[in-house]
Amino acid sequence: MKKITKAVFPVGGMGTRFLPATKSIPKEMLPIIDKPLIQYAVEEAIEAGITTLIFITSASKHAISDHFDPKPLLREKFFKEGKQHLLDKLHTIPNEITRVFVPQGEPLGLGHAVLQAKEIVGDEYFAVILADDFIKPKGTNATKQLIEVALEKSASVVSVEQVDEERVSQYGIVDIAKIHGLTNEIKSIVEKPSLADAPSNLGVIGRYILSPEVFDFLEQTKSDKGGEIQLTDALAGLLNKPENFYASKLNGKRFDCGHKLGYIQATIDASLDDEEISAKIQNFIKDRI
Ligand code: UTP
Repeated sequence: MKKITKAVFPVGGMGTRFLPATKSIPKEMLPIIDKPLIQYAVEEAIEAGITTLIFITSASKHAISDHFDPKPLLREKFFKEGKQHLLDKLHTIPNEITRVFVPQGEPLGLGHAVLQAKEIVGDEYFAVILADDFIKPKGTNATKQLIEVALEKSASVVSVEQVDEERVSQYGIVDIAKIHGLTNEIKSIVEKPSLADAPSNLGVIGRYILSPEVFDFLEQTKSDKGGEIQLTDALAGLLNKPENFYASKLNGKRFDCGHKLGYIQATIDASLDDEEISAKIQNFIKDRI
């Protein structure tokens, strides 16, 4: 398999669980302390060797392209004022990294968003990164971990973790065919099953390496009852051979920042890791409870 160098960032969702904040900005622009979720995800991708970033954006929200704009005027002002620490904060994407913005048109689901990347991805394996899954890595970052498995197995691979029983019905759930430590062949995959029907409690989280074949399956996937094209339904197509598709257990701590609780937990966790404010936050929490 060729090197994996392209990553798709679907950022066109409506973010209804974060209204009104998401009326004019995508939820991926919400910051954990002082950095937007999307920037953490982009840094993870670049560290994993990705050189083309493909953002699938909402037509009405331009904050993500604005965020990654090089900001020449502001840069010049800080340069003239000798404010290197502020210049460092403006640095987001190195010049050699290609960025492409594709409007989704209508928010017709994650599968529809990924399909918009078909022409730019072409005939290569590629990463999909959902920035609202904020991941604190343990060692190798989540995208790099998947790329290593995909290259070793010449196959698609999704990141999974055990999810609580009450949340099983909110995830794509995989059934494992053969267990080989952290990396397993997938037998089946099902979107948002009831707890009774779920084949396991292994939920697919927001990191994927996918074969370009997935675009053919996405084109054939019908909208669900809510009018959305689900990525999971197309992933089931990749299971025509189990050795084509693996699940890899996430080595890291994930926070689902698509809803309030996960977002606040991520913020508290990051603030307790932040040397500048950690001690004060601990005292604040002690005083507050
Ligand atoms: P979610 O289902 O978590 O996002 O999609 P959402 O629809 O914005 O959230 P709620 O439920 O209304 O609060 C997972 C990922 O897929 C992207 C989202 O931006 C998020 O990164 N997505 C979803 C799209 O890019 N386009 C879509 O049409 C739907």
